[in-house]
Amino acid sequence: MGFDAIDVIVTKRGRGALSTDQIDWVIDAYTRGAVADEQMSSLLMAILLNGMDRREIADWTQAMIRSGERMDWSALDRPTADKHSTGGVGDKITLPLAPLVAACGAYVPQLSGRGLGHTGGTLDKLESIPGWRASLSNDEMLGVIRAAGAVVCAAGSGLAPADKKLYALRDVTGTVESIPLIASSIMSKKIAEGTGSLVLDVKAGSGAFMKNVDDARELARTMVELGTDAGVRTVALLTAMDRPLGLAVGNALEVAESVEVLAGGGPADVVELTVRLAREMLEAAGLPYAKDPEEALKDGSAMDAWRRMISAQGGDPDAALPEAAEFVEVAAPATGVLTRLDALSVGVAAWRLGAGRARKEDPVSFGAGVMLHAKPGDLVTEGRPLMTLHTDDAARFERALQTLEGAYDIVQGGEPDLLPLVIDRITA
Ligand code: URA
Repeated sequence: MGFDAIDVIVTKRGRGALSTDQIDWVIDAYTRGAVADEQMSSLLMAILLNGMDRREIADWTQAMIRSGERMDWSALDRPTADKHSTGGVGDKITLPLAPLVAACGAYVPQLSGRGLGHTGGTLDKLESIPGWRASLSNDEMLGVIRAAGAVVCAAGSGLAPADKKLYALRDVTGTVESIPLIASSIMSKKIAEGTGSLVLDVKAGSGAFMKNVDDARELARTMVELGTDAGVRTVALLTAMDRPLGLAVGNALEVAESVEVLAGGGPADVVELTVRLAREMLEAAGLPYAKDPEEALKDGSAMDAWRRMISAQGGDPDAALPEAAEFVEVAAPATGVLTRLDALSVGVAAWRLGAGRARKEDPVSFGAGVMLHAKPGDLVTEGRPLMTLHTDDAARFERALQTLEGAYDIVQGGEPDLLPLVIDRITA
């Protein structure tokens, strides 16, 4: 059907609803290069300002899915379950979670991305393991799933190519922060990935995409509706990102912390969220009475699945992880309760130390990052280490330290004012 890009733009500029045919046409024509970047930029801005209703968002998502391949796991003999996090500081949960859920009886095909900006990417973290390979063919993915129960790898370029082109355009036109566009972007990739069930971890707080709980709740609700409408059993948890998750922020540091969790230890918040998300994934996959995740962490079966998963992708689970060349400790300036530790500041500090990248093509430093020695609510003592900064390039310390100025409060007899770790649960 023939449409005109200007008519589509004018419809949305005038707060009208785009028809299914208009949406199908504009996504297809843009992906083929028949609608120009400047026209799509204008439409995206009109969507950001005027929104889309539920039917439009579902149509927009389906049109992006149809722009590429759709994966199919029907050859597998167990239900599939996936998790997606909207990203946060110290969010390494996928690493212990995927093998844990596999150890409890579901298959976990998880296509992940690299980090850009202050939140790290799961693939960057796993690539700090010597030999580990992120890029797999579809046959290799099936092989890893059959061997280990879980695979975490890079999404191929065939999955929702319309979203890749649109996301790059949104990045440079001030149109990323639109709930309909974020929700459709994330869900087009997750639905195309072909999982039967999906648990969303939507983060709220300074270190997250969504700074406040109301916006995070709206994003969660929109994504749950999109998944449900597409036949994927979808549930979302709204979780705290006002402070970092766990104690480690940075690629290899987070792998080490994840291995501690798989060994039955690790920071309480990482363990709690991993177990909670695992239970949600098993329930969404239709396996509520499978092995209990806490048990699988204790009896070593989750660790066994991790070792199989890493080895099946060429990694050596016993190899030493990269370490940074230079360290600096930040000492507590006073004695009292650490009442606040800002997630965004810690994330930006880790990024400035080399853990993240500024442009897509930049390398990351595997050893760089921040190790916390206290979390909000802990008592700290003047002069004792509050955190240690790790980098390969000592010239990076100065800007990282500047970022951390004003990032925390220590109050004698104080109480932390924190979001609950799990704020809410959103279902269809
Ligand atoms: N992540 C995505 O994949 N898409 C967005 O629009 C935002 C975050």
